[in-house]
Amino acid sequence: MTAPPSVFDRLTALADATRSRLVALLERHELTVSELCAILQLPQSTVSRHLKVLMDDGWVTSRAEATSRLYRIESRLDDGAAKLWLLVREELERTAVAAQDARRLESVLAQRRTRSRAFFSSAAGSWDAMRAELFGRSADQAFLGLLDDRWLVGDLGCGTGWLTAAVAPFVRRVIAVDSSPEMLEAATKRLELVTNVDVRAGELEKLPLEDQTLDLAVVALVLPYIAVPATALTEAYRALKPDGRILIIDMMPHQREEYRQQMGHLWLGFSREELDSWTRAAGFRRPRYRPLPVDPEAKGPALFVASAIRKS
Ligand SMILES: C[S@@+](CC[C@H](N)C(=O)[O-])C[C@H]1O[C@@H](n2cnc3c(N)ncnc32)[C@H](O)[C@@H]1O
Repeated sequence: MTAPPSVFDRLTALADATRSRLVALLERHELTVSELCAILQLPQSTVSRHLKVLMDDGWVTSRAEATSRLYRIESRLDDGAAKLWLLVREELERTAVAAQDARRLESVLAQRRTRSRAFFSSAAGSWDAMRAELFGRSADQAFLGLLDDRWLVGDLGCGTGWLTAAVAPFVRRVIAVDSSPEMLEAATKRLELVTNVDVRAGELEKLPLEDQTLDLAVVALVLPYIAVPATALTEAYRALKPDGRILIIDMMPHQREEYRQQMGHLWLGFSREELDSWTRAAGFRRPRYRPLPVDPEAKGPALFVASAIRKS
């Protein structure tokens, strides 16, 4: 009979962050390699290599089901391993990456439920696929119909004007602001035929907008570039009318350090606490922060949408 691995062997297996994340996921649910790849956003070869180490060291077991192989945490961990795992899990749960993994796990499980429903009850199950085939994601944008057509909207950090183009048909006017000449040029081209849009050069920290003019200020995927995001929120407050709203779309806290070099990000996502304190400090009331559902096809971190209202 072979002796169980010593605590030191156990430590070696868990000392790798990816392997700890795998164990955490497989403790919550039985998953296939491709589901694990989708959650961790790692290639299959990397995930399989880490799974093999975990299997060899007795952390994970697997079983075959139809044409798939499902992995889960070993249900009979010895006392030492169970204690060690509790410690590692406690640390891991404090990290941003664990929260991102949990959100992606939810979305993978939701997709699996839809697939199995589609398989077992053809009429109801096939509707989602048919809807996607017929209309793509265009019906998702129907909520734009809730925008007030008397509103003046600021798209602050508009980039190539994607959001301005989506919002303009539903409101009175959109002022699209950005500091990059190249982005402004692309936005101007995209919005060439849209008559109710102004494209303006400017900084979020010093907006080219009069006091109390906007009904809605949208700040989408811009705050990671701003050294002191609270300054931009204070400026947006100044430009909003009383009772005007701010809408912020951005990344939840994550650990993609490479975004600093690749994209010049100064912030790796934002927590509810940060957004709440900055919006309140700027003078806003009723701050809200909601994680957005994760698109299983998307490679980036999970997003949130936050909003707040300017005082009357
Ligand atoms: C990732 S893009 C997002 C564009 C757009 N909001 C979207 O959702 O597609 C970020 C944009 O913010 C702009 N930006 C970054 N810092 C800025 C600042 N301090 N003032 C104005 N624009 C800024 C960049 O030029 C870039 O166009």
